[in-house]
Amino acid sequence: MKELLAISSQFALNGAPIEVKPLGEGFINDTYIISTNADSYLLQRKNKNIFTNVPAMMDNIEAVCNHIKAKVAARGGDPMREAMTVIPTHDGKLYYQDEQGEFWAVCLYIKDNLTYQSACTPELAFQGGKGIGMFQAMVSDLKTPLTDILPGFHNIRYRFQQWDAVLAKDPVGRKASVATEIAWVESRREEMLRFWSLVEDGTIPTRVTHNDTKINNILFDQNEEVLCVIDLDTVLNSTCLNDFGDAIRSYTNTGLEDDENLDNVTMSMPIFEAYTRGYLSQTSCFLTHAELEYLAFSAKYITYEQVLRFLMDYIDGDNYYKVKHKEHNLQRTRAQYKLLSSIEEQFDEMRSVVERVSKEYSC
Ligand SMILES: Nc1ncnc2c1ncn2[C@@H]1O[C@H](COP(=O)(O)OP(=O)(O)O)[C@@H](O)[C@H]1O
Ligand SMILES: [Mg+2]
Repeated sequence: MKELLAISSQFALNGAPIEVKPLGEGFINDTYIISTNADSYLLQRKNKNIFTNVPAMMDNIEAVCNHIKAKVAARGGDPMREAMTVIPTHDGKLYYQDEQGEFWAVCLYIKDNLTYQSACTPELAFQGGKGIGMFQAMVSDLKTPLTDILPGFHNIRYRFQQWDAVLAKDPVGRKASVATEIAWVESRREEMLRFWSLVEDGTIPTRVTHNDTKINNILFDQNEEVLCVIDLDTVLNSTCLNDFGDAIRSYTNTGLEDDENLDNVTMSMPIFEAYTRGYLSQTSCFLTHAELEYLAFSAKYITYEQVLRFLMDYIDGDNYYKVKHKEHNLQRTRAQYKLLSSIEEQFDEMRSVVERVSKEYSC
């Protein structure tokens, strides 16, 4: 506590820090609430295993927050509640590095918020889509280039380089036992590379994306309306489709990511439609024809990437994802492939939903 108070006092808070309490909901960073006699703040120790360039990450966050604040102010909203506010240190830095080399950052705590841990109803899925859509719409004209703090993220060409290397090495001798699963990945290689080449050649534009679209990264007000999107650690320049696809991958799964019973795992069309509706209610005016054309495909792309990553980690000897048992990554591969198959089976309908809803919200 004494140490956390000392760290807190490095930042330009309104009032002296009185108390620092852990807030136990995040998975990536260690999060605390600082109270002064005037305000509350969120203190985070950034996970330096995942984020290797915290100064650049904080510059990205600041650029995005300032842009959103200006937008909120212009529409007569409250920039202190409808956007994150990064608090600098007394010497004007956006982070503090302690003697152990750990990076700390502070933002204003937005009071009287509601959060949800999962979106299991169409109503919540709609709100989730609306939240990410609002975020993307507000930053759609942000010109400042962001630093790519997660190189290769959702880039299937990069994943295939890793994949080919791991398969060539077969470090723990598991490759022969997963020939069927390898064929799942290989049979779609060209299709996925074709899509990614559209991003590479600019047919599908690169914009500001969030890259962690879980519903618990959206704050709601007491009327259950979207306040703002938080957890901006992963903002970078990529295609908006990756945010959409990743949200669909997680929101619509009727089972678990590592479900043992594959019958549980399907892509829920009502949740897909609700998320799409919320998302397009905010984005249909700026998304290009090419983006709308590939919106449904992005769910296939991101789910496929996850199949590849789970299987690659299994073949590599379980170095990346934490496993509870020897076959855990294989179990995840099969469950994720079941989801991919369900998306593929319903793909025509997903495309029709996008077409219908985008017409409803066309400007
Ligand atoms: N500015 C904020 N105001 C209020 N609560 C917040 C704010 N930022 C984060 N939180 C709360 O803290 C939790 C963890 O923060 P988050 O930045 O999402 O960390 P992690 O990267 O570990 O997920 C969030 O799910 C949310 O409940
Ligand atoms: Mg979070």
